[in-house]
Amino acid sequence: MPPINLLALCGSLRQGSLNSAVAHTAASLCRPPVAMTVYEGLGGLPFFNPDVERECPPAEVLDFRARLAAADAVLITSPEYAHGTSGVLKNGLEWVVGSGELVDKPVAVVTASPSMTGGARAQAWLRETLQVMSARVLPHELRIPCATVKITNGRVTDEETLTGLRSVLADLTRETSQLGEPVPSGA
Ligand SMILES: Cc1cc2nc3c(=O)[nH]c(=O)nc-3n(C[C@H](O)[C@H](O)[C@H](O)COP(=O)(O)O)c2cc1C
Repeated sequence: MPPINLLALCGSLRQGSLNSAVAHTAASLCRPPVAMTVYEGLGGLPFFNPDVERECPPAEVLDFRARLAAADAVLITSPEYAHGTSGVLKNGLEWVVGSGELVDKPVAVVTASPSMTGGARAQAWLRETLQVMSARVLPHELRIPCATVKITNGRVTDEETLTGLRSVLADLTRETSQLGEPVPSGA
């Protein structure tokens, strides 16, 4: 089986972020031929500006796009801020609306929050944005409520959550292996 290259984006810049812990735990759960890299550059991207995009996209943006293009699939972990995703993640996504690196790309969304909802509104919000960008958004919705008791020292420790995360990774991997397959006729 050829290598499967997954990229994780985390929408939180916070040190000690629950969502960063989810991304790093997911990376540690991957086994060859699947490998996951956590992209750490979202906070370094400039604010999206269509004029800048048209004239001369900055090196950080080109690097971000290249990493997304090279990934077979993407895992997004996001906090919920004021019932939406974070500005930093939305900004990153805006830089690839026009360039299209997420078109047809399998993308899984995970949200973690200390609240009982597990970031359900951010999850819905992100799925809508990714769908309009023509990403192949996985139906599997993993929300992690009460995340402060399920994540310890930067790692997911709750067994049920770990099972959910493994299942998301299995779905993502399956989607990448189906990418080259023709759509069945007469279905
Ligand atoms: C400005 C702000 C707005 C927030 N809004 C929400 C919210 O709407 N829903 C929610 O569940 N948590 C909300 N929270 C709490 C975050 O879910 C919590 O801080 C979480 O730990 C952020 O994710 P992180 O740990 O990955 O940084 C908010 C936190 C901040 C600072």
